[in-house]
Amino acid sequence: KKVKLRVPATVANLVCGFDILGMAIHDPYDEMELKLLDSPDIIIKHEDSFGLPEQPSKNVAGVVLQKIQEHLKLSQGFEVIIRKHIKPGSGLGSSAASAAGAAFGANALLGDILCKEELIHFAMFGEELASGVRHADNIAPCIYGGITLVKTTDPIDIIPLNAPDLFVAAVHPQVEVKTSDSRQILKKSITLKSAVEQWGNIAGLVAGIQKNDLPLIGRSLKDVIIEPVRSILIPKFDEIKMKSLQLGALGGGISGSGPSIFMLAEKKEMAEKIADLMKTVYDEIEIESYTYVSKIN
Ligand code: HSE
Repeated sequence: KKVKLRVPATVANLVCGFDILGMAIHDPYDEMELKLLDSPDIIIKHEDSFGLPEQPSKNVAGVVLQKIQEHLKLSQGFEVIIRKHIKPGSGLGSSAASAAGAAFGANALLGDILCKEELIHFAMFGEELASGVRHADNIAPCIYGGITLVKTTDPIDIIPLNAPDLFVAAVHPQVEVKTSDSRQILKKSITLKSAVEQWGNIAGLVAGIQKNDLPLIGRSLKDVIIEPVRSILIPKFDEIKMKSLQLGALGGGISGSGPSIFMLAEKKEMAEKIADLMKTVYDEIEIESYTYVSKIN
């Protein structure tokens, strides 16, 4: 028995929704193939060129499968082939894709015995291995699709939201920003004033998404807490954001913990123009970059 999966990239945080709001996009995506084995072995094969570890305890998909195997006291094992296209360290949910794909694929092979919350629970072990933090804002949209709100992770309470018909332009500049570092630099306490501003924006964003109110989405895509600190790690962040807004982007910000930047646009042509602009800005300072034009998935 074998399952083949296309596992989407994800953008999470969605600006003000640090650790709680994320969305799946249709490109890039990873390909995964999972097979049930009669022996209890877990075999991971990466058919890509990223040099990720294949030892199960050191592999994001591997630890998720180990946890599922342990929990269900399985005598069977899994073989997983991963063709990764979502670049590790991009901020586009590369580790979440491996983790969510492993949980989702294993469950499909076992006859759908786990509910979505359980899949999230197991997939979070993969995120923990990758970044030291058990966050679910990438995993949840990867498993549910569209946009999700992680209301809480303990207990796991995921609210799937509507997915507005919007295009996404994203750029991944080739600079290294480690999730662990970009979490470390965040302030541990914030003022009540900025908290009030932030939760106004989060509430506005969720309401805008649910009502398909694009102007409301646009004016709520503001982050007064995380972005000002993290954007310092991303060259040309302010310029790209400002120029994208001038081109008509609805809004956007840092994808995940960076270094990718994403912008939402109503039309594909606009998203393409924004992606071109992003590339030009990095070409000018001789930083190699990859761009993506995608849709909320
Ligand atoms: N929510 C996480 C963060 C995503 O911003 O640190 C990291 O991929």
